[in-house]
Amino acid sequence: MKLIIKNDYEEMSVWAANHIADAINSHKGEKPFVLGLPTGSSPLGVYKNLIEMNKAGKVSFKNVVTFNMDEYVGLPKEHDQSYWYFMHENFFDHIDIPAENINILDGMTENPEEECRKYEEKIAAFGGIDLFLGGCGVDGHIAFNEPFTSLVSRTGVRALTEDTRIVNSRFFGNDMNKVPKTALSVGVGTVCDAKQVLILINGHNKARALHHCVEGGVDQAWTISALQLHPDGIIACDEAACGELKVDTYKYFKEIYKDEK
Ligand code: GLP
Repeated sequence: MKLIIKNDYEEMSVWAANHIADAINSHKGEKPFVLGLPTGSSPLGVYKNLIEMNKAGKVSFKNVVTFNMDEYVGLPKEHDQSYWYFMHENFFDHIDIPAENINILDGMTENPEEECRKYEEKIAAFGGIDLFLGGCGVDGHIAFNEPFTSLVSRTGVRALTEDTRIVNSRFFGNDMNKVPKTALSVGVGTVCDAKQVLILINGHNKARALHHCVEGGVDQAWTISALQLHPDGIIACDEAACGELKVDTYKYFKEIYKDEK
């Protein structure tokens, strides 16, 4: 696993956006580049930088197909807290991606199992995900794979923990009762099947999650730790998130990746 430590959120976001643009630009052949994407506050800086690069002609999304990680059950697309709305508002409406290339689970579906099965099939039909960008929850969850979700899980319906609903209530007028209790989410296995996985971990409140992801064992209590078994897993973090790492671990990663621009 690679751990890229940047000074602050802005530097982390610039690094990750450059990494994604380079991956898209160096992609060869007719087949589209397949990009997995998250919601949340962590990727906002990456989206902002990618939008600027797209407008400056440094990267194009015309031959990129996206699959989002998750969606709340019961929120229509137009709801300002649906992940469909978030992605369009913060990213898709500002780049040159064709609408038909965007894939987001439908939280209003009448048949969630079928919706999730088809999502996996569609990812497979595109030859799998080339790069999955992700964030992580304060309890180390990836997508909506809460603690103790199987580390080989596939796309399916997930119950949200009370902790996650409390954390996410900041987007629902601080009323936890307005936060949906379930979501559709790609599995830990779905994320780890991607050829490369890039996870953003920033801020003091994610320090325990970063510690468990990097220094703990592979542990279903911290689903993000499954990244340790990935052949090409990268974490981009800021200094604030490093507070729970051992000094030796911190120095090791700072030294070996010091030339990562
Ligand atoms: C939600 C999403 C995750 C995201 C997490 C952290 O639970 N399902 O994909 O990583 O929130 O969000 P934030 O980046 O706002 O801390």
